[in-house]
Amino acid sequence: KRVAVLISGTGTNLQALIDHTKNPANNSAAEIVLVLSNKPDVQGLYRAQQAGISTKVINHKNYKTREEFDAALHESLLAGGIEIVCLAGFMRILTGGFVSKWKGKMLNIHPSLLPSFKGAHAHKLVLEAGVRVTGCTVHFVSEEVDAGAIIVQEPVPVYPGETEESLSERVKTVERKAYPAALELLASERIQLQENGKLLWK
Ligand code: GRF
Repeated sequence: KRVAVLISGTGTNLQALIDHTKNPANNSAAEIVLVLSNKPDVQGLYRAQQAGISTKVINHKNYKTREEFDAALHESLLAGGIEIVCLAGFMRILTGGFVSKWKGKMLNIHPSLLPSFKGAHAHKLVLEAGVRVTGCTVHFVSEEVDAGAIIVQEPVPVYPGETEESLSERVKTVERKAYPAALELLASERIQLQENGKLLWK
């Protein structure tokens, strides 16, 4: 399956996906053929170039509305013959129209055990709540943010004296395992998003 990864930053998840899909030992059903970023000059773009993957910057600041930005994204994905989209630290909220076009074909990774601690400040919320376990979640993207069907989760203990930075770092280590696992499940068609929004294991 031809995969595009959408990023906004450092791209550690992108790197994990590249390493997994390029490793012949994994015999992956996924091939990353395009990396799109809404921000120029981010480290993730450099990672893609190092791996010989096409990159494109679609700067959201050049678009008046979310609809126009999403239309440009969609056009690039179609032009690239993309079949699966992975959001990996992509920090733009996508419109309902765009999400519905990629229903069942678009994944996201979130740094908490969903449905707890949705949104852009998961680690902060985790520390405020005082929970002793957090983790990461890979899920299908639905219109409601961080709410689609869950595919893979990995737990991470929360230690006393933990900071957002220390937590983010340890959650990222499990993200590196969770995202490739989820992508592989979708690319090899072992999972499917059903009409009722629930996951089907095949
Ligand atoms: C990850 O923690 C991911 O869960 C969140 O944003 C971060 C992206 O990190 N959505 P990176 O760009 O993959 O390093």
